[in-house]
Amino acid sequence: MLLYIHIPFCDSKCFYCAFNSYTSLHSLRDDYMEALKIQLKDELKKNAKKIETIFIGGGTPSTIKASKYKEVMEIVQPYLIDDSEITIEANPNSASKEWLQEIFEIGINRISFGVQSFDDKKLKFLGRNHNKSQAIAAINHAKEVGFENVNCDIIYDTQLDNKELLQNDLSIIKNLPVNHISAYSLIIEEGTKFFEKKNVQFENEELARFLFEQFSKLGFSQYEISNFAKGENARSKHNLGYWQYKEYLGIGSGAVGCLNNERLYTQNDVHKYIENPLKYVEIEKLNNEDILVEKVLLGFRSVVGVDVGLFNQDAKSKIDLLIDAKKLIFENNRVYAADFMLADELSLYLDI
Ligand SMILES: C[S@@+](CC[C@H](N)C(=O)[O-])C[C@H]1O[C@@H](n2cnc3c(N)ncnc32)[C@H](O)[C@@H]1O
Ligand code: SF4
Repeated sequence: MLLYIHIPFCDSKCFYCAFNSYTSLHSLRDDYMEALKIQLKDELKKNAKKIETIFIGGGTPSTIKASKYKEVMEIVQPYLIDDSEITIEANPNSASKEWLQEIFEIGINRISFGVQSFDDKKLKFLGRNHNKSQAIAAINHAKEVGFENVNCDIIYDTQLDNKELLQNDLSIIKNLPVNHISAYSLIIEEGTKFFEKKNVQFENEELARFLFEQFSKLGFSQYEISNFAKGENARSKHNLGYWQYKEYLGIGSGAVGCLNNERLYTQNDVHKYIENPLKYVEIEKLNNEDILVEKVLLGFRSVVGVDVGLFNQDAKSKIDLLIDAKKLIFENNRVYAADFMLADELSLYLDI
């Protein structure tokens, strides 16, 4: 089982972001962490399964003192497998060297920085509150305090992007202690500043392919549409777990869990969550068709692939055609997309 923990606080709201995060609720942080521990203890007791990976995401987890995570880790410890992967997200402006040191000392062994770009103009355009030198310093500090697994989130497909800008970002990454990149194409979400604005997005498949080629030249190989790792050991086990359709607990306001073929939604409202952290606002039952669609989509987007036994006869005949056309690769009774970017088209063609 995987564990996701959500921290809904941010120091500022980026122009593209629709995640459940708030800039004016910092005074609730201590109460929030107490509520979160109540839900965590309850779920761990109810499910009593071993935890393979933890992902502390947000919002901005680096807005919370390291000592609070120590308390969380003490609760999870009895359930953790040996060699568990424990990731925390951090923003370059709030992840001080002291915070990184403390976080590392309590056993968190992977860090994911929301860098987005190393271009100060693009960072401003995205509404980020850090600059290039803060991002470089934060990544170097992480390495200095002992982190071997460092991810860098990048956003592309904005109007400011061109080969030169991306190449420049890459030449900086090349010299940094980063072994994983998550590169997201900009999505315009309702309710964000960008939703109101024109000329923000620049959907350019050629530029995306250029970026992916450059990642590959630097030794980062693609193992999912948006994820690139320097060697198999650098792949995120937590990410892979989602794509393998493993069960996960979702702890915190706005977190989603998925267990026993049910998706559980907690309360987005932080005040209400603190009042009653055990309440789920929705429990969505997943039927066999929902599960199949999910397994096919997640599998084709990543190195996980799809078990051929899941398909009906009609889809199996089409799969044979796709293998002949080299769009799918067949290995050990599983099929893999030859190009993860075509995952949606493949699923559509198979009529899943
Ligand atoms: C939820 S954020 C949390 C990380 C951290 N708060 C940060 O931004 O520094 C995780 C990542 O999702 C990506 N992201 C969020 N909204 C997005 C959007 N609308 N389009 C593309 N990527 C997005 C960003 O790259 C971000 O770093
Ligand atoms: S991208 Fe990260 S820092 Fe920016 S608002 Fe979203 S969660 Fe907060």
